[in-house]
Amino acid sequence: MRDINQFSITKSVKESFKTEPGSRFEQLLHGLIDHLHDYTREMNLTHEEWIGVLNFLYACGKISTPERQEFILLSDVLGFSALVDMINSRGGATEGSNLGPFYLPDAPTKALGADLSDGRDGATILVHGKVTDSLHNPLPGAIVDTWQADATGTYPIQEQGQGQDKYDLRGVFSTDEAGRYYYTTVLPKPYTVPYDGPVGDLLRAGNRHAWRAAHLHYIVRAPGMNAITTELFFDNTEYLDNDAVFGVRKSLIAKLQPAGKVGDLGYALEKAPDAVVGFDFVLAPAG
Ligand code: BEZ
Ligand code: FE
Repeated sequence: MRDINQFSITKSVKESFKTEPGSRFEQLLHGLIDHLHDYTREMNLTHEEWIGVLNFLYACGKISTPERQEFILLSDVLGFSALVDMINSRGGATEGSNLGPFYLPDAPTKALGADLSDGRDGATILVHGKVTDSLHNPLPGAIVDTWQADATGTYPIQEQGQGQDKYDLRGVFSTDEAGRYYYTTVLPKPYTVPYDGPVGDLLRAGNRHAWRAAHLHYIVRAPGMNAITTELFFDNTEYLDNDAVFGVRKSLIAKLQPAGKVGDLGYALEKAPDAVVGFDFVLAPAG
């Protein structure tokens, strides 16, 4: 390996790993080395630039905690999280989008028609629709797990220190015999991703803002089907075309209509809504 230069080094590094030939690990590792070496050569990286990258990654690690995952945020603002969502979205199924940092796996079960707002300020929206398979057959007993920010753009879990209950503004619903889900909640507002760390510095360096379009988060699952993690956005709201984490997809934007215009949909609701949002989730078969 003495006879090595800026081109042959790529092969030498790959061969230094004794990976199982043809394995997925080998494919991923060799691809990473190939692309990073190509990038380094193409950019003619200087020592200062490379140390700058390493110091940036160090700063991401330093600010990270189990609650503050700066590397995930970096993946989000660079569009990697969205790219992985896109690659793994199944044809025919609802497109996937960001999980975000605020999911709780043990949110409370709620009855259909429940109100999630707990008396919070803001417009009350009815969110309703069906969960179906890709042939539009309803899926009774499907699980619709949702969480969201409030009308100031804050997740209650972010304000536990101020007496908020982390389980507020979230709920797990089970669809009825017609595959329907329906509940009321507050209309969430846009909010910023954390920008007080190295990723914020990166956004500022690139003249980018940290705002996310207002959204509702969902994990939807049913036996025998592929679960989806996704988000629902509202038409005619801010940041749909420049969401900081590239979470918006055309197919995930729902129409927000005044309740008076929609009329009575026949649901038994805990609270009367000001506006109505309809959205059907489509799941593809597992496997
Ligand atoms: C969110 O949607 O909750 C979120 C996504 C990425 C970074 C921060 C928050
Ligand atoms: Fe969110």
